[in-house]
Amino acid sequence: MKKILLSTVLLLTTLSSNAALLPGDAANGKKLHGEQCVACHDTSVYTRANRRVRSVEALVGQVQGCVRQTGAKLDRDQVNDIIRYLDESFYEFK
Ligand code: HEC
Repeated sequence: MKKILLSTVLLLTTLSSNAALLPGDAANGKKLHGEQCVACHDTSVYTRANRRVRSVEALVGQVQGCVRQTGAKLDRDQVNDIIRYLDESFYEFK
């Protein structure tokens, strides 16, 4: 019985941490995205059938790489805002 309870608790913890939202403010991310990110591609790259980003980790890495290419000095919170916006609006990993 104890074992069952323990695994239920573990399962619930795992489920709730998966459901946890990414840090960041999606509305601010959307604004920053419009200012910094549409020079090279529009949002259709996030929804195309053969899109490359397939995990949160890949999304974080891709956004960081693209931020460097913009030359804009975005701080970590601003990058998190953009990641959250992309995840909420297009990728829906979390
Ligand atoms: C200097 C040009 C440039 C700018 C500016 C740029 N990107 Fe990109 N981005 C690219 C290129 C090139 C690709 C790869 C497109 C491809 O694979 O066809 C890409 C792809 C991506 C992808 C992956 C799409 C997929 O296939 O899932 C994401 C996410 C992304 N960019 C986010 C951003 C964000 C966020 C910004 C603003 C901070 C940004 N990009 C600004 C050049 C740019």
